[in-house]
Order: sequence, then structure tokens, then C-alpha cells
Amino acid sequence: MRKKESKPILEVRNLTKRFGGLVAVNNLSFTINEGEILGLIGPNGAGKTTVFNLVTSFYQPNSGDIFFKGEKITGLSPHKICMKGIARTFQLVKPFPNMTVLENIVVGALSRTNRLNEAREEAEKILKVVGLSDVKNIPARALPIGKRKIMEVARALATRPILLLLDEMMAGLNVAEINEALALLKRLNSQGITLCLVEHVMRVVMSISDRIIVLDRGSKIAEGPPEEVSKNIKVIQAYLGKAYA
Ligand SMILES: Nc1ncnc2c1ncn2[C@@H]1O[C@H](COP(=O)(O)OP(=O)(O)O)[C@@H](O)[C@H]1O
Ligand SMILES: [Mg+2]
Repeated sequence: MRKKESKPILEVRNLTKRFGGLVAVNNLSFTINEGEILGLIGPNGAGKTTVFNLVTSFYQPNSGDIFFKGEKITGLSPHKICMKGIARTFQLVKPFPNMTVLENIVVGALSRTNRLNEAREEAEKILKVVGLSDVKNIPARALPIGKRKIMEVARALATRPILLLLDEMMAGLNVAEINEALALLKRLNSQGITLCLVEHVMRVVMSISDRIIVLDRGSKIAEGPPEEVSKNIKVIQAYLGKAYA
């Protein structure tokens, strides 16, 4: 069922990011609506991860602005942006490999409190939500990839996001792991967390997204509901053709 709300929670206006001569994000504008699941797709190098890095202030744009809940957040520190309620996961997962699963989540929770006890309680709660309580005491490195990806989501959840950006969460997962991750994302969304998914697994993006934006060489080339976008010829050429070739 598609959601009806169309109140923007994030607005990106005319965003450009250059790396030397390369324009990674090119005058890009888009919005994410409250409660929505937005899919961001495009071929490798299209600028998807760079968009996440800009929204979370890991990178600064050359021009353009980002608004969160109507407030300009361009130029704020990554920590401030996290405190406002934007969290992300990384394409290349970066857990603390020798720390336990629980300790990894506690690190996330410590962004909101200095009290270890509180952070631990919060982490235990989140472990329950994501279904990792039974592996909480093993080192993160010992987790199979599917659970490691879920732990990444848990770490992000520990910062209590309103908007969660997920970078290729499904990459490398088998069908069972994908289905488990999908169910988790739907659950989080139904609890009110707005999601933006960068994803290569087409089945996932098409089934879960309310709306899809297609990037190619830093520019938006298509936008709309999944059924519409998948029919769009430009998309088929730029993305689906390449992906299924
Ligand atoms: N830190 C960086 N320094 C230089 N070039 C970068 C950097 N990050 C990304 N790029 C380049 O920007 C383009 C977009 O990259 P990226 O956002 O990672 O694409 P995607 O996530 O869509 O595959 C690519 O050409 C990539 O090589
Ligand atoms: Mg990427």
C-alpha cells in the first residue's frame, strides 16, 4: 500500500559535489517525504553514496543546500546531523570487529547519552527489535554477513534516527537473509522511521519503495512510483539494461 503523506522531511536543493574535474553529484534536487520509503538507484559511480555522504555532512557540497524538517543543515557537523535524527549505514560495513555485537550497538547509543548503563539498556532494547539478542555476546567479526548488516542497522538505530539512509544493505545476502532484512525495514518504517535505500537488488527496491529516484552520472534521470520507473526507457537503458546484461 502506498502512503498518502507528502510532507517533506528532507529537501535537497541544487546539490553539486565535484572531486577534482569529476562531477559526482550534478545540480541534484529531490525530497524525501515523512514516513516514506524512497529507493535511490543508478549504475556504479552514479553518485548515490556521495549523496549520503553529503546529507550526513561527511562531505561538503560545492553548491546547493540540504534542509531537514524545514531547517537548513548544510555545513553542520556529522555529529549535529546525527543528533537531529539522520543516521546512515555504510556500503562497506565498518563494525568494531573485536567488540561484541552488544558493544557495537552500545557505541551507537553513546551518541545520545554519556551514561553507560543507559546506553546498554537502549542497546539491549534494539537488539530485541532487530532479533540479535541471541548473538549479542559474540564478537562482531564472527557474525555471518546477513546478521552483520542487521547489526549495522542496529548501530544506526541506537542513535534514534527519524530518517535512516541505507547503503546497499542487501549486497552479498542470500534470499533468506534478504527476506529477513526486508521484513525488518518494513517493521521500522511502520514504526515511523523514514527510509532511503540505495540498492542494487531490484526485487528489493521495487517491492519495498513508495517512490524511486534514478541517478546517472550525478543527475536525476527518472523519478516516480516503482511500476512507472521500471517502465521508463531511459532507466532501462541507463540502469536495468546494464544491470541485467
Ligand atoms: N572521496 C572521493 N574522492 C574522489 N572521487 C570520489 C570520491 N567519492 C566518490 N568519488 C567518485 O564519485 C563518483 C560517484 O561515486 P559514488 O557516489 O560512490 O557512486 P555510487 O555510490 O553511485 O556507486 C565516482 O566516479 C567515484 O569514483
Ligand atoms: Mg555506492
